[in-house]
Amino acid sequence: MGYVGLCTAATFASRGIKTIGIDIDEDRIGQIQRGKAPLHEPVVKRKLLKATTDTSEAVSTDASFLTVGTPSQPDGSIDLSYIKNATESLGQALQNKQRYHLLVVKSTVIPGTTSKTVRPVLEQSSGKTIGPGLGLCANPEFLKEGTAISDALHPDKIVIGSNDKKSANQLTRLYRRFYGTKLPPVILTSPETAELVKYASNAFLATKVSYINTIANIAQYIPGVDVNQIAGAIGHDPRIGPLFLKAGPGYGGSCFHKDLQALIHYGRDHGYDPVLLAATEETNEQQADKVVGLTEKLVGPLESKRIAVLGLAFKKDTDDIREAASIRVIDRLRKKGAKIVAYDPMAVSSFENVFGNTIELAENRYTALKEADCAIVMTEWDEFKKLKARDYIANMREPNVIDARRIYRPEEFEQLNLVAIGLGSLNQERAS
Ligand code: UGA
Repeated sequence: MGYVGLCTAATFASRGIKTIGIDIDEDRIGQIQRGKAPLHEPVVKRKLLKATTDTSEAVSTDASFLTVGTPSQPDGSIDLSYIKNATESLGQALQNKQRYHLLVVKSTVIPGTTSKTVRPVLEQSSGKTIGPGLGLCANPEFLKEGTAISDALHPDKIVIGSNDKKSANQLTRLYRRFYGTKLPPVILTSPETAELVKYASNAFLATKVSYINTIANIAQYIPGVDVNQIAGAIGHDPRIGPLFLKAGPGYGGSCFHKDLQALIHYGRDHGYDPVLLAATEETNEQQADKVVGLTEKLVGPLESKRIAVLGLAFKKDTDDIREAASIRVIDRLRKKGAKIVAYDPMAVSSFENVFGNTIELAENRYTALKEADCAIVMTEWDEFKKLKARDYIANMREPNVIDARRIYRPEEFEQLNLVAIGLGSLNQERAS
């Protein structure tokens, strides 16, 4: 019942499909049972989504979706322990089931996991073999945090990887029932292809972000050049497309870094070094140095400077700070002796766990700016977009602003010392 599981369960349940959400985390299950999970209240009220810590309840259903996390090990490779544990307890529960049961692997797993890890664990723990009585598919998800429900309701494709026709047919039938005439293209593949599609998708998106950040960093040296105009222009070419070309402080979130590292590691394990993917990651890491460099250019040495960081979440409309660019930037600013005061509309408490009391956390966007020598916009929250030049001038010691998310129109902020990622302005041609 993590992000993917909860959203998948909620969308199935909302269409009248009897759904059981299973997790070992009692607090989380208790919350869902009480209808506390914000996404699920109407569904829970109609008793369509039942939540439990008892895996054996899955036996009463036709299909189980495995949506546990696949975190990184210290060396970057994938940790499959949750996959193995969840599969094993499901397998044990299925031992005495007479009817057909389908296991669908939705978690992001490295190619070969469904066939070489999930299958033997499932077969051994259930005492059954994949075939007429037991099915197994890889079926990756492409949900984005913040729009997961809408993404689940309107996917651009469904990818189903299986080695037997019955499993693929059963899952296709479930999706056909769910989407009706709006069924998106269903792509039937081997389990390994389906697994790699997920990585290929995230690696491409991450590379697109690092690519536009590279162009932004070059644009920065050329007065009168704006990376947003460049992105807009190249985006008209259907071979390139307009999305995921927003320059910024680097990508964050629980997936891109983890999945790229897992894929790089997998390639290297097989004797191939995927240098493009390593460069995507390195470019992303460097983008934090870029933000700090621009800050130094604007305010001089950072020792004892008070820097207001506006936004901690890895993107707007979430309290998630996993792998957020704000963490990389704050780390670097602190190493250079800056005093940090940070504010985020939703993510402040998650941030406390990371930085403890080594940074100051402000109550609101205005108190964050008080007496600051520089403000850095790290997340594109709507409430930061509403700040006017006068708000910065009235509160800060010096109105120095780094727009790392390109949320402001520079012409409206001429009274400020505004530096924006990917905007080559006349007094910033030497920005580095
Ligand atoms: C990402 C993918 O977009 C989903 O398709 C995928 O299912 C999911 O990972 C996953 O594997 O579970 P998510 O992590 O929610 O979704 O976030 P995105 O919206 O993709 O944003 C990732 C990061 O890239 C954010 O920090 C965002 O600010 C940054 N970004 C995105 C940019 O800097 N520029 C852009 O143009 C787009």
